[in-house]
Amino acid sequence: MLPEEREFVLWRMRENLVAMHKILEAAARDDMRELARLADETAKVPFINIQMPSLRGVIPPPWRQLGKLVHGELGDLAKAAERDLPKSELPERLAKITAGCVSCHNTYRIGPEDPERPADARRRFP
Ligand code: HEC
Repeated sequence: MLPEEREFVLWRMRENLVAMHKILEAAARDDMRELARLADETAKVPFINIQMPSLRGVIPPPWRQLGKLVHGELGDLAKAAERDLPKSELPERLAKITAGCVSCHNTYRIGPEDPERPADARRRFP
């Protein structure tokens, strides 16, 4: 990854953590409407390779699958929370989401920049 791509991915990751934290806070307050709103908002954040098109050739397909899984679980949680999801089911739902985070973190590291990749790669993937 180019340095700016790495910065972008890590910034998005920190945003993911903030989003999870806010969702947990809403769960702790038993505020299901806010939880549904936050989960829906987070699920709808565009994928990183759409926000930064140069990442299209860099993010491997299994990474994209895991990303889709996390977004999907967040969307499902939002819908369930809108329909009065019983509080007892919340931890399991939330764990399904964090399982996606953990699984990807156990699989991928952002490696050193590929020396074969031209520095103007971003312009090659407009
Ligand atoms: C599809 C892959 C993937 C998913 C899903 C994923 N991450 Fe990450 N995340 C990464 C990678 C890769 C790194 C960088 C790891 C490295 O190179 O050390 C990272 C790093 C991070 C970091 C460190 C940011 C920094 O500034 O150093 C945080 C925090 C984080 N992820 C939170 C989350 C949370 C919370 C979730 C789930 C809601 C999540 N991530 C889901 C791939 C993923």
